[in-house]
Amino acid sequence: MLYSHIYDALASEGVFYNADIVLGSSDALQAIYMAEWRAFMQRSVSVEDIDRIWLPRYYAEDRPAELLNQLAWLTDTGFADVDVVWKYYNFAVYGGRRPLMTADVNLWRSPEHALDYLARADTIPHRTEGEAALLDSLPERMARVLDLGSGDGRLLALIKLARPHVCAVAVDFSDAMLARLQARFVGDEAVAVVSHDLDRTLPDFGGPFDTIVSSFAIHHLAHPRKRSLYAQIFDVLAPGGMFCNLEHVASATEALHHQFLAKLGITPDDEDPSNKLLDVETQLTWLCNVGFVDVDCHWKWRELALLVATKPA
Ligand SMILES: C[S@@+](CC[C@H](N)C(=O)[O-])C[C@H]1O[C@@H](n2cnc3c(N)ncnc32)[C@H](O)[C@@H]1O
Repeated sequence: MLYSHIYDALASEGVFYNADIVLGSSDALQAIYMAEWRAFMQRSVSVEDIDRIWLPRYYAEDRPAELLNQLAWLTDTGFADVDVVWKYYNFAVYGGRRPLMTADVNLWRSPEHALDYLARADTIPHRTEGEAALLDSLPERMARVLDLGSGDGRLLALIKLARPHVCAVAVDFSDAMLARLQARFVGDEAVAVVSHDLDRTLPDFGGPFDTIVSSFAIHHLAHPRKRSLYAQIFDVLAPGGMFCNLEHVASATEALHHQFLAKLGITPDDEDPSNKLLDVETQLTWLCNVGFVDVDCHWKWRELALLVATKPA
């Protein structure tokens, strides 16, 4: 999870290198590493002090992980050129580079773009089935929910009908959407509307949530940011909390993608250039990798899918 935060904090092309202790990938290797560590320590402290002070301190304070795992985590987070630049027994220097951020088109700050979507939001085939599946997946008891990319609050309004006592935080970065959110929930003290760009690290919302939802928003973020956002969602959820993401995902093939567009009555030229579609399997794997359990796709029609994941209690 720390790697996601480091990735987010880095500028485009920024590098991260970690000089750290790593764990041997087998008992035999770890025994060799520890023998070398003892030999190293004996250069400056007595054998008695190693056993009495330094070894207990090593086991109490250090939480080394295997180097191959660390490299996989960095790659998973989105780092490029992940490599070990130096290694000596259990000491290693390894890291990677945040790739050049290519023109990351996101038209959703434009009021015209937001209003055009709102005008046809009801016409998206099967979306009400997806919303119903999301409502059906929600935990029975919900005290605090976070909605990421709320739009005009359509999903939150449905959630509040199903769980009238829930307190909510609605997040979006479009002024047009934020104005509609404010208008929809005016006078409702249980709903806080927050302006935030999801491309940036989530702010402190004043405590954990038992449920985090999102509908058709996260696919506007670049893939590495999707991955790091999932890690932050995991952090912000309370133990046992649930994440429900009703999402526009990638088709398995170009032909299936064109079929989906035809069902929507649009051509590839009409597609929203802000879309950065990603397949269900990769997203489920990422959710598992950041620590979620009971990760599954609860509902799917073509490129619309409901991904659900639970943070262990
Ligand atoms: C397709 S709309 C969905 C809105 C709403 N969740 C719904 O289901 O109707 C996508 C929403 O994501 C928001 N969005 C897109 N990129 C965002 C970003 N980087 N930060 C915050 N919100 C974003 C847009 O402003 C828009 O409200």
